[in-house]
Parts: sequence; C-alpha cells; structure tokens
Amino acid sequence: MNSAPLAAVTGAEGFIGSHLTEALVASGHRVRAMAQYNSFSSYGWLETLSKDVLEHVEIELGDVRDPGSVRALVEGADCVYHLAALIAIPYSYRAPHSYVDTNVTGTLNVLEAVRTLGTPRLVHTSTSETYGTALTVPITEDHPINTQSPYAASKAGGDRLADSYHASFGTPVVTLRPFNTYGPRQSMRAVIPSVIGQVAAGARTITLGDLRPTRDFTYVEDTAQAFLAVGTAEAAQVVGRTFNAGTGGETAVGDLVAMIGKLMDATIAVREDAQRVRPANSEVMRLVADATRLRGATGWKPAHELEQGLARTVDFFCDPANLARYKTDIYNI
Ligand SMILES: NC(=O)c1ccc[n+]([C@@H]2O[C@H](COP(=O)([O-])OP(=O)(O)OC[C@H]3O[C@@H](n4cnc5c(N)ncnc54)[C@H](O)[C@@H]3O)[C@@H](O)[C@H]2O)c1
Repeated sequence: MNSAPLAAVTGAEGFIGSHLTEALVASGHRVRAMAQYNSFSSYGWLETLSKDVLEHVEIELGDVRDPGSVRALVEGADCVYHLAALIAIPYSYRAPHSYVDTNVTGTLNVLEAVRTLGTPRLVHTSTSETYGTALTVPITEDHPINTQSPYAASKAGGDRLADSYHASFGTPVVTLRPFNTYGPRQSMRAVIPSVIGQVAAGARTITLGDLRPTRDFTYVEDTAQAFLAVGTAEAAQVVGRTFNAGTGGETAVGDLVAMIGKLMDATIAVREDAQRVRPANSEVMRLVADATRLRGATGWKPAHELEQGLARTVDFFCDPANLARYKTDIYNI
C-alpha cells in the first residue's frame, strides 16, 4: 500500500492545475485529478505531463456541478485543492448562469463533500479580481470586495460559502487568492499568451484591449508553490484564513507589451480592438498584492522575476508543437 499523502485536485487539467499536479508529485504526493468530462476523453494539459509524473496521478473525468462525481474525487483524500472554475471575464458577460453553476454550486459541492467525508484540509481558490480596482495599494486581505464582473461575483460567492462552512461547521478550509498568474500552458484568453502567441505566429501588429490596467503578474510555478504552502502548513497557521499570492510588483499592459517585444526581438505595434475593451465600470484598473500574510504563515515567496518568467513563457510558445495547440488569429474568450 502506497503511504504517500493523497491530494485531490479539481481543474487539474487546466493551466494552474496542471502545474500544481506536477508540484504535488514532486513533493511526494499521489494525485487524484479531476478533468472535466468531455466527449473526446481529453485530459487537457495533463496529457502533456511526463510519464514520471503521471505514474503518480490517477485521472478521473467528472464535473464539479455534479455532487456525486465530486464526492468520488474527494473520498479518502488528505487534502483537496479546488481549482475548477469558469475563469474568463468576457465569457461571463455572455453566459453568467454557467458561472454561478460552476463557481458557486460547484464550490458548494466540494465543501459538502469535504464536510461530510471529514477531509482534513480543503484549499479553495479565489481570485484578486474579487477586490476590483484597488482602493489602496498594495492590496491586503482586508481590502473591500468589489465584484466588477459576473466572473468576480461568482468567485466571491464561492469564497463566502467557504468562509461560512468554516464558521458554521468548522470545515478546515483555506482560501488562496492568486493575483494574475502567467506561464506555459495558459490559454490565449489572458494577455501574456495573447501577445506572445500573436508575435510567435508572425504578427507584428497585434490586437489588444485597454493597455492602461496594471496587474501583479505572478509566475505559475510560484502560484503552484503557494497552493502547496497553504495545503501543507500547520493547520493553526492557515485554516479559516484567506491568503493573497502575488509578487507585489505592478506592470501596465502597455509596458508588458514592450517587455515582450524586447524579449522576442520584435517591434510590436498595437491596434486597440473594441470588442476586447471591457465596459468602463467592469474593467479592473489596478491590482497589486500584499502577500505579507502568506509569507508570515508559510514562508512562501515568489522565486521568479517577471523578465525570467516571461522568457520561459516565450520559450514555451515559440515551440511550434506548443503553438499549434492555440488559435492565435481569433479573439479567444
Ligand atoms: N489564471 C489566473 O491568473 C488566475 C488568477 C486568480 C485565480 N485563478 C483561479 O485559479 C483557478 C484555475 O484557473 P486557470 O487559470 O488554471 O484556468 P483554466 O481554465 O486553465 O482552469 C480551470 C479548469 O477548470 C475546469 N472546469 C471548468 N468547469 C468545470 C466543471 N464544471 N467541472 C470540472 N472542471 C471544470 C476546466 O476544464 C479547466 O481545466 C480558477 O479557480 C481561477 O478562478 C486564476
């Protein structure tokens, strides 16, 4: 019998989830990974992980909207990492009901499974988008919540349920609130892959939305380590608490384009695409993390500078085999 701790991960086939799966295996865990059921039997990014990693991963197709499949995933786990979500802001304008079903009801199903099965730890995933445009910087966990998109509102709904389960039932839940995460395997919906992907595909005039918003861009391996940190820390340090995970750096989208141009040795012109510009009151203009609480409780700190993480992301997208997985010529919502 394998005595390695068992981590159950929802959203494991996605961008952050696949990196977290690798980090969990590297730290000695077995992983039971949920990939969303689909008719292609696709395991998403999990299919690209090395054999050495996959030896320790059991993949189950399921759906967080279905209580039965969530319970089967959670049964026997030492820790559950709940990352599954619909995450695109533009698509949340178009299909808000699906965001409530996935991000609110899906989270409720995870909380119920953890509560009734007595799972020792749940790491619930929030997002910096729940803060809305920063009223004070850097943003601590005490910053007001101001949900400016249906996506942010649905994530905040999941957060509130997680807090309520801890208060009402003592459910051992920790909430991690990552700031904008980037790196290999991210979808073209996010700004960094969109810029790098368009340039890697040969474009020199690229289309983007608003160039003014600033974000705290955090490399995906650092975000994965933040998950691991709150999933494995002493309960007294983390349970019942919310933690920001971000670098404390602030970069405007326009400056990011210039940095990527330099790294890719390309002169990039930007054309603003009206369909990519969000309604004025919905655009979050400024997000910068104060991650002091996370560092104090777990010792976590980011290991990658932005230039370094961007260079690794450029390498990933410049590999034709990786680029072929993306549609760089359309607006991916
Ligand atoms: N990428 C970021 O910058 C960022 C920042 C803050 C928070 N987050 C949060 O991190 C988590 C992971 O995001 P990501 O960037 O890896 O996105 P992603 O879209 O790559 O991953 C989300 C995964 O959830 C899965 N999923 C969606 N609906 C599902 C359902 N009904 N049942 C089961 N699985 C389902 C998707 O298939 C996908 O693989 C999300 O909770 C997101 O809100 C992301």
